[in-house]
Amino acid sequence: MGIESSCDETGVGLVAGGRLLGECTATSMDAHARFGGIVPEVAARAHLQSMVPTARTALERAGIGKGEVDAIAVTAGPGLATALTVGIAAAKAYALALGVPLLGVHHLAGHIAADTLEHGPLPERSVGLVVSGGHTSLLMLGDLARDPIEHLGDTADDAAGEAFDKVARLLGLGYPGGPALSKAALEGDPEAIRFPRATVGEYGFSFSGLKSAVARWVEASEGPLPVADIAASFQEAVCDVLTAKAVAACRAHGVDTLVIAGGVAANGRLRELAGARCAEHGIALRIPAPRLCTDNGAMIAAVGSMLVDAGAPWAPPGMSADSSAPLTAAALQPLKGSL
Ligand code: KG4
Ligand code: ZN
Repeated sequence: MGIESSCDETGVGLVAGGRLLGECTATSMDAHARFGGIVPEVAARAHLQSMVPTARTALERAGIGKGEVDAIAVTAGPGLATALTVGIAAAKAYALALGVPLLGVHHLAGHIAADTLEHGPLPERSVGLVVSGGHTSLLMLGDLARDPIEHLGDTADDAAGEAFDKVARLLGLGYPGGPALSKAALEGDPEAIRFPRATVGEYGFSFSGLKSAVARWVEASEGPLPVADIAASFQEAVCDVLTAKAVAACRAHGVDTLVIAGGVAANGRLRELAGARCAEHGIALRIPAPRLCTDNGAMIAAVGSMLVDAGAPWAPPGMSADSSAPLTAAALQPLKGSL
């Protein structure tokens, strides 16, 4: 059983032998919409209310009883500390009550693992592109449960999802910005405006300049804003730079598989452009189904199941949240005091 509560989604999923049995996700998104962003205390309270019903529904959907669960995995970080703490408390309670192992996992490893639920185990080596609301990283992946995760590059400032959210707000498209902006972009011309494609070093990203460029363009424009064209042109700049770097990393390292994961991987244009560029260079592209790209419990169960199979040690009973945990391995079992 996997439990996710790092942001505004309460997720519980059940995985056996790498196969998804059932899952349930509750979201407090609507409660944050009027603030234009996530309010940690509101998210934490919503997790408290949703945790038990979400777990119950996930078990029902999986068609199993609590007694059949043989390990509990939970997101230990990164994320909102108060939100993570609710999931960790629930995971400890289930593990203790059921007498089964508890495993703390890194949220971003969960995003990558989500892909294995549909497409099977990862190859020996692959390049990972993780694009979420808080992170953007290009990674060299081996065995997710056993090997360290190597960073080829990261964003120097905003995450890709954060850029979507901020530009959506600027265009008055509301919250959450990613889905709203990509919907608006469907009606627009991606070549209407040439926004900058900034990179940092060989595999690093930077999105704050792009965000400012959109803001400057909006400020300078007169008459009604061509929202769809701006959205499409911004989206094109993000997807262009992400896919170009990811494909370049695969080629330079002689890796023939690219895995794209995280909330922004739900973006239709990113999926399309990555598909075309990977096909051009003979790279196998793996992206989870859109509903498994955004936060959910199934992805945490997927990592948990891999860690159990790899014989990973159980989490200590004093495990606590690590809100800014760097991504160095799938297992994350910080002790009390690291918050
Ligand atoms: O992975 P995720 O659900 O949560 C984090 O771990 O952050 O990612 C959420 C991010 C948000 O910034 C959201 O706007 C973005 O993913 N997102 C999208 C789309 N769906 C979600 N961005 C672009 N296009 C989408 N379709
Ligand atoms: Zn996430």
